[in-house]
Amino acid sequence: MISVKEKISNITHLECPVCHRTFPFDQINTYAACEQCQKNPLLSAYDLPGLTKEDIDQKERSMWRYARLLPVLDKKNIISLAEGWTPLLKLNRLSDQLDIKNVLMKDESQNPTGSFKARGLSAAVSKAKELGIKDCIIPTAGNAGGAMAAYCAHAGMNATVVMPAHTPKAFQMECELFGAKLILVEGLISDCAKKVAEMNREGMYFDFSTMKEPYRLEGKKTMGYEIAEQLNWQLPNVILYPTGGGTGLIGMWKAFNEMIEMGWIENRIPRFIAVQSNQCQPVVDTFLQGKISSPIRQTIANGLAVPTPFAQSLIQKVLRESSGTAISVSEEEIIQAVKEIAFTEGMLIAPEGAALLPALKKLVNTGEIKREEKILLLNTGSGYKYFENL
Ligand SMILES: Cc1ncc(COP(=O)(O)O)c(C=O)c1O
Ligand SMILES: [Zn+2]
Repeated sequence: MISVKEKISNITHLECPVCHRTFPFDQINTYAACEQCQKNPLLSAYDLPGLTKEDIDQKERSMWRYARLLPVLDKKNIISLAEGWTPLLKLNRLSDQLDIKNVLMKDESQNPTGSFKARGLSAAVSKAKELGIKDCIIPTAGNAGGAMAAYCAHAGMNATVVMPAHTPKAFQMECELFGAKLILVEGLISDCAKKVAEMNREGMYFDFSTMKEPYRLEGKKTMGYEIAEQLNWQLPNVILYPTGGGTGLIGMWKAFNEMIEMGWIENRIPRFIAVQSNQCQPVVDTFLQGKISSPIRQTIANGLAVPTPFAQSLIQKVLRESSGTAISVSEEEIIQAVKEIAFTEGMLIAPEGAALLPALKKLVNTGEIKREEKILLLNTGSGYKYFENL
């Protein structure tokens, strides 16, 4: 049992989303996905009925304003660099140029270490600290590794980051500056995951792999809470999300469902649109054709090069249940979009986030998104680490 001085969380247990078997939250649960449903991550469940908007800590200008809905039990275990509570910007010039009424961008580039991965890793490293973990390892396409290294440094924990050798140098250097051990692997994040499994055969490390560790999702979920709160509890019609492992997509969907259950918002979830690069589009293929049929290659949007997302079935459920869709764009379209957003709005965003612009243009042209709808682009990161790719 964890001893708790100042309890700040309403977490009750972890649950398998398929068979609803429950697991305790005060034990280490990586890879505890239930035996029946190996392919599904565990989701955190909370005592929701008693919570009201008054439980949001208005003085806290970070994602920890929603601490009641996060898994860390004791305030003293929070490892924070002020992640989250990022701005929701109106893209007026782009809206005008595209003849669309209302395009918003949730700008995650303003997080510590320059991406939304800060949220997930702040939650997960905090929870790991609470569980007494010292040695952390992560396979990463870049941003998550930098974030884990930073939060481990802040917590005084040991970090090992396993990254594809072709990842831009800035991602590699930041890990080393944060004191992490960096291991480069030829191939994609899936090859890094194999390396992590091999290195961790003896169980020396705590493995932070996407969706296998249950609490990164909870950190990402706060994007959904912020979108609702910043829009005065009126959700947008459509959310476009650059999808690799799908954590942010599933996280926002989870947040919206929790808020519906608590009565904070009306019972209507935005259409989720998963955007991928056509160099690696397993989510798009599965959504449109029921199986992965396109070749898997590297993309300049490094975070989207995830050949087999662990949470594929949950991603598909979110797309189907929200009446959303999935779409891919080319490398040329992504580079052009990075430039267009930079010179039109003054924002130098990550290629992953930029991929949303050509996707939006296509879906407006086909009529799948209406010009008068409230559209939210979720920009996941900063472009400043990607200069080599551009
Ligand atoms: C900038 C950026 N955007 C998007 C993604 C994909 O995120 P998710 O795993 O939530 O789909 C990543 C993952 O590495 C990323 O770094
Ligand atoms: Zn199960």
